[in-house]
Amino acid sequence: MSHLRNVTCRVCKGSSLTRILSLGEHPPVDNFTDAEHLKDEKRYPLDVYFCGTCNLVQLLDVVAEDELFHGEYAYFSSASKPLVDHFRSYADDLKSEHVAPGDLIVDIGSNDGILLQNFVGTHRVLGIEPSANVAEAARAKGIETESGFFTIEMAKRIIEMHGKAKVISANNVFAHIDDLDEIVQGVKDLLTDDGVFVSESHYLLDLVEHGEFDTVYHEHLCYYSVKPLQHLFGRFGMEVFNVVRMPTHGGSIRVFARKASGLPIENSVHELFALEEKAGLHSLARFADFQKDAEAIKEKLVSLVRQIRREKKKVVAYGAPAKGNTLLNFCGFTQDDIEYVTDTTPYKIGLLTPGSHIPVVSPDILKTETPEYVLLLAWNYRDFILEKEKELRARGAKFIIPIPSVEIV
Ligand code: TMP
Ligand code: ZN
Repeated sequence: MSHLRNVTCRVCKGSSLTRILSLGEHPPVDNFTDAEHLKDEKRYPLDVYFCGTCNLVQLLDVVAEDELFHGEYAYFSSASKPLVDHFRSYADDLKSEHVAPGDLIVDIGSNDGILLQNFVGTHRVLGIEPSANVAEAARAKGIETESGFFTIEMAKRIIEMHGKAKVISANNVFAHIDDLDEIVQGVKDLLTDDGVFVSESHYLLDLVEHGEFDTVYHEHLCYYSVKPLQHLFGRFGMEVFNVVRMPTHGGSIRVFARKASGLPIENSVHELFALEEKAGLHSLARFADFQKDAEAIKEKLVSLVRQIRREKKKVVAYGAPAKGNTLLNFCGFTQDDIEYVTDTTPYKIGLLTPGSHIPVVSPDILKTETPEYVLLLAWNYRDFILEKEKELRARGAKFIIPIPSVEIV
């Protein structure tokens, strides 16, 4: 079975679900491919729903994990320098408030060890990572890493081998989980009584306010806000006690949860809940223009790129992030529009982008070549990349920024 379709909400199990966005059928965004495998490429619907009961925004179409990862994964967090810095400061925050030297920290979806590498030598660390090639990169940094998906059963084994964890983290992965009950129960089992679960995910409020429809892809099953998260943890005798907005990935939230304690809940939780309420995130009406807004960006971008091509000028793309593939496929771009995509991830170089089949090349090409236009798919690193590429820009290349609105700089 490569694709299932849920009929109830992942958080509250209700069935009051309304479609708020449909992007068409897309291949999974991390399935970079090559000429030999083009015939194997499969597409699945990319439709977003709103739950009228707990207000979770979510996908109902669930692509099987082996279709998403193929045993190997193309995404290495440490390929993005600003993300490495982000996780260093994240680790400092945890050290100052939630973990002491010698405590056990378990990171679910630990990728190449981008968070845990900051605790090696002072704390006990355990990563959990299903993609074999990415887990290997973490082990090479001295980070003990379990292969596989986190389950209640795995939590039991970890307790037997290492004891309970003071901190469990799950970053840019908690929104990827279909069976949330399994994860939350496993987390509760594995945490010490005073332990903390912390997770960062892309934030629904930023998504709707900045038109970040490209954040929608098959791995992203949930688009969280505070209210459904409170509902979820509440069902397991846990509570959200602090929430902090973060600039990463176009706007994220760092959510702290613990076993229900009777201790005060921090103001941040009430404040963000109130902000979401005011922004309309608890009502279906807020999403009435969601589809139209995404299509407006598409039309603008497509007509801009086609106009540039008619003038016989070259367009390339910068960064091949997961979201870039949603954007490329939604716009229907091919190599006729965009000659190549540069990316810093060695794994992606030499492959073709899923669906749009544009070759991924090393960014070194831009040291000698000066395309007239560069479409910035990794727009979340806008300032960093515009600064890093100032020499290219001085040579005359213009950057097209697609999100939050189409802009040329
Ligand atoms: P991310 O937003 O999930 O970190 O993904 C960003 C992608 O863009 C990743 O494939 C690495 C790539 N990238 C570049 O090619 N150049 C850069 O300067 C940065 C920051 C990222
Ligand atoms: Zn619900």
